[in-house]
This record gives sequence, structure tokens and C-alpha cells, in this order.
Amino acid sequence: MNTAEKQLAILLEFGKVINKTKSLDDVLESMARFARDILQADRCSIFVYDKYKEELWSKVAHDTEPIRISTKKGVAGYAALSKETQIVVDAYNDYRFNPDVDKVTGYLTHTILSVPLLDNQENTIGVFQALNKKVGIFTNVDAELLLLISNYAASAIENAILYDRLRDTQTKIINKLASAAEFKDQETSKHTKRVGLYSALLAEKYGLSHDDITKIELAAPMHDAGKIGIADKLLLKPDKLSNEEFELMKTHTQLGHDLLFDEENEYLKSAALIALEHHEKWDGSGYPHGKKGEEISIFGRIVAIADVFDALISVRPYKAPWSFEKAYEFLKNNRGTHFDPTLIDLFSENIEKIHTIYQELKD
Ligand code: C2E
Ligand code: SIN
Ligand code: SIN
Ligand code: SIN
Ligand code: FE
Ligand code: FE
Repeated sequence: MNTAEKQLAILLEFGKVINKTKSLDDVLESMARFARDILQADRCSIFVYDKYKEELWSKVAHDTEPIRISTKKGVAGYAALSKETQIVVDAYNDYRFNPDVDKVTGYLTHTILSVPLLDNQENTIGVFQALNKKVGIFTNVDAELLLLISNYAASAIENAILYDRLRDTQTKIINKLASAAEFKDQETSKHTKRVGLYSALLAEKYGLSHDDITKIELAAPMHDAGKIGIADKLLLKPDKLSNEEFELMKTHTQLGHDLLFDEENEYLKSAALIALEHHEKWDGSGYPHGKKGEEISIFGRIVAIADVFDALISVRPYKAPWSFEKAYEFLKNNRGTHFDPTLIDLFSENIEKIHTIYQELKD
């Protein structure tokens, strides 16, 4: 293959990988790697621009710790402020170059290609920089190629910023809903938060994806949202519920599901599933549907454990709080009956981490 063919092959491969990766860091990481390969550079870094601090923060930097550089000096700073590509053929004899970074990293820069990352309104959002071309110097063709990749990087960063805002809104709505249910039930927001954290820990140890871990952490706190629809006289009753009252109480699962379910929103979908299934039991004796074993989603099985554990150690109108040890014993005694045995084993293996969450978020 000649150079152009090699570059095309790398670009095609690049497109495939970018479409598969999800987190911003992963995307930028693979972009920097591709850019390095395609340009035959020794290093590639992507910087995100902080307009207010007048600084560039390295998001990805091969073989180095994250760095922060002022935009007032240096080649990357020039690229950020001028919004123009900068090519440097002999760094230490170039007025644009700032040797401070080399002093910190111990690296010796010779040649630099630095291109600005611009958003839709042509504002600088970062800089994509390649250092030390392996053979010769960076050319205009290299600059064109890096600009091409930079357009992907810029839109990935922009999307990530939008996505963060959206998720922030979702999280707020979710937390408001959860606290509306708590308000009626006199559960504390610490309870719902702890349920989220225990659930995320179990999800991680079970080997769920990063996405699913985030989903369960955000969605688990809403497991009792359906209690909004349950009369205070039941929720706040200081004694045992009658059979009839308990039948009414059980409807909080389906109510919560129907309240939360949204076909278009992954978080709310997970939250609805959790609300529906958090009182199902491994042996099929739970409610509302008497699902058994893996008929219950992994989310439902996880939150069942987190919720009961936390309900036991919390005060309720109808019961005093149990000790950490007694609650833990209860889980172990119900391994394989109420609870998924694999998950109980994971709970035990990570009991110290569970205890830390318990300590840090005490009522
Ligand atoms: P919750 O208070 O959040 O409790 C959640 C789950 O933790 C319960 O689901 C149960 O599995 C477990 N749990 C809580 N406290 C105890 C306990 O003292 N002993 C044992 N063995 N398990 C406990 P469950 O039973 O399906 O109850 C669902 C909800 O119904 C409870 O949520 C609570 O709001 C209400 N509830 C249940 N029992 C009573 C009761 O005797 N009196 C009143 N007022 N409400 C109750
Ligand atoms: C600079 O932008 O002048 C510093 C280049 C480097 O990262 O070494
Ligand atoms: C799993 O067990 O890994 C997922 C399948 C399920 O949700 O039960
Ligand atoms: C999911 O894995 O996204 C949902 C949890 C399940 O139902 O297994
Ligand atoms: Fe519940
Ligand atoms: Fe609860």
C-alpha cells in the first residue's frame, strides 16, 4: 500500500470504531490514536479550551499525565486564539513555541502540528495537536487530514456537552420524583441515594456495562415512586398492615411502573422496570407477578437486595432500625429464597465497600 492508501484504510477503520464507542473519553482516545498513526506522529493530544481561565486542558495525551497550558503562550495557544492551523518545523527556534511543557514532561519537541477544534458557531472548543513526525516535517496534507479528524472530535465534544446537560435535567427530575415519594413515606433522601449506590456497586461487581451501572444508579432511587399513589394512613401506620391494607400497598409497584415508564427514555424505562420488579423474589413468592429467578431482570434482582437491606437499617413508622450486622444476616439467610444467590455472594465479597457507603451516608 502507498501512503495515501494506508491513510484511507486508517480513516475507514477510524469511522467504524468511532461509531461503536460511546464515552467521550473513549472517542477522543481513539481519535488521538488514529491521528497519531495516520500522521506518523510520535504523540497526539486533544485539549479542551477553557475560555474563562484562558487555559487548554489535555483530554488525551499519549504516555503523559494530563496537562494544562495557558493559551497566552505556546503553539496550541496560538491555534486556539487565531483559529488557524499552526505548523512548526523546528520548535526550539520558533517564537510560537513554549518550552515549559517539555520541562514538565521531560519530552523533547521538534515538530508540531496544531489545529483548532471549532464548534458550529466557529468558536474554539479545543485544540488537536500532533508532535514529532517520525520522518521529516508535518505537511499541508497532514494538516488537512488532522482537520478532517478534528471535525469529528469537535462534534463529539459538542454532543457530550449537550448530553451532559440533558442528563443533568433528567437526574433532577428523577430526584424530585423520588423525593416526592419519600415525602409521603417519610423515607429520607439518604435512603434513596444509598439504594442507588448499593445497586451500582452490585451492578459493577456483576459485570454490567458502564452504561447499565449509570442507569441503575440513577433509576434505583425511584423504586418506590408509586408510593405517591398510596394513602398516608397506610404509609404512616405505626403498626402492622392488615392483609387488605398490604394488598393495596403492593400496588405501588405497578403504579410506579406506569408513572415512570417512557418508551423513549432509557433511564425512565429502567426506572419503570425497577419499580415494577423490586418486590419480586428469586423463588417466585414475590409480587406483583410472582416472577422467578432470571425472569426477574438483573436490575430488579439487584434493587431488591439494596432496598431491603436499606429498609432494614432505616427507621420506618412501623419499625425501629436494625443493626448493620443483623440486616446483613437477614440477606444471607434469604439467599436463594428471596434473593439471587449470585448477587448475595457478591454482596458478601464486597461487604467492606457496602459498609463504607453505609457509614458515609448515615441518616
Ligand atoms: P419499605 O418500608 O421500604 O420496606 C421495603 C422492604 O424491606 C419490605 O417489602 C420488606 O421486604 C423489607 N422489610 C422492611 N422492614 C422489614 C422488617 O421489619 N422485617 C422484614 N423481614 N423485612 C422488612 P414489603 O414487605 O413488600 O413492604 C413494602 C412496603 O410496604 C414497605 O416498604 C412499607 O412501606 C410497607 N409495609 C410493609 N410492612 C408494613 C407494616 O407492617 N406496617 C406498615 N405501616 N407498612 C408496612
Ligand atoms: C506548545 O504548545 O508550545 C507546547 C508544545 C508541547 O506540547 O510540547
Ligand atoms: C443477566 O442475567 O445477565 C441478564 C439477564 C436478566 O436480566 O435476567
Ligand atoms: C438492561 O440490561 O439494560 C436492563 C436490565 C435487564 O432487564 O436485564
Ligand atoms: Fe417498594
Ligand atoms: Fe425503599
